Amino acid sequence: MLGAIYGLPEQMEEAVRLMEHTGAKFDASLVQTIVVTGLGGSAVGGDMLRTYAGDKCPVPILVNRSYTLPSYVGKDTLVIAVSYSGNTEETLSAYADAKARGAQIVAVTSGGILKKQAWEDGHAVITVPGGLQPRAAAGYLFIPQLMLLQQAGLLPEGHAEIEETVRLLREMRKLLAPASPTEQNLAKQTALRLYGKIPLIHGAVGLTEVIAYRWKTQINENAQTPAFAHCYPELNHNEIVGFDVPQELIEKLEIITLTCSRNHPRVQKRIEITAGEVLAAASCGQTELAALGESDLAQMFSLLYLGDYASAYLAALYGLDPTPVEKIEYLKRRLAD
Ligand code: PA5
Repeated sequence: MLGAIYGLPEQMEEAVRLMEHTGAKFDASLVQTIVVTGLGGSAVGGDMLRTYAGDKCPVPILVNRSYTLPSYVGKDTLVIAVSYSGNTEETLSAYADAKARGAQIVAVTSGGILKKQAWEDGHAVITVPGGLQPRAAAGYLFIPQLMLLQQAGLLPEGHAEIEETVRLLREMRKLLAPASPTEQNLAKQTALRLYGKIPLIHGAVGLTEVIAYRWKTQINENAQTPAFAHCYPELNHNEIVGFDVPQELIEKLEIITLTCSRNHPRVQKRIEITAGEVLAAASCGQTELAALGESDLAQMFSLLYLGDYASAYLAALYGLDPTPVEKIEYLKRRLAD
């Protein structure tokens, strides 16, 4: 897992090269809505696409995590079916639904049934390298979706942003990788703060909301720990009330707040008042972590990268191997019986 995390910048570059030579195309002039359908590690790229594209793409993007698609999906919808393994039953079912409704379809996968079916049906397939855990393939699963929309003119050209992101992650890993000692390693420091605690990850609507959720799922899967995520400003209207009782459990919480320079100024103000005043007396720990970089993409990936490393170090602190996800595999096997 640590090797895969270290390799994220190279993974992103490889995905760029793959997309520069892809034959995967669709007719953008017909597209009124975009639906990315996938689950777990294969849905996160769609989440990031949705939030990144929020203020840039002329058509709405929805991330679907279900067996079926929303009723509006039809010939004017682009459905991007993403499954790293190509064998996830919900995604295969949603793919069949998209096909039945005559949607334009692009599959993103390393193989499996999805690749075979999409090829046989004559739909575009973007084949990414296999051999990783899906959650460790964020570069392979996100960059193709991003570039697909950029190449179709649905998103502005963004090569400079990708280059900035790759450069930034390479810089960051000098300090975050295992060889870097705790005193200068923010990921190790964060893992130590989370050790023995229940992480509560707060992001903000826009760029950090989905990264907070990514932290939650990485902590769940890599460190095999319960973790929860919520986002500003919504959490100001409910969650902040719930830090009084039971005291002995509140003490076990560690709030990590992810911030970035793109936050709405009123959201930023909310974060300051919440952390500094409203929750100041709460008995849980609080840590704020700020995104690095200039572009939207760099800011998102800088926080994702920190969370990936922190969750793997948390696994190490608990003496666990961050790679296997036996419970997910058991469930899939049982459902296949
Ligand atoms: O992290 C995981 O292994 C899961 O969240 C998977 O991504 C999820 O079960 C879906 O599988 P796939 O990504 O192969 O479609």
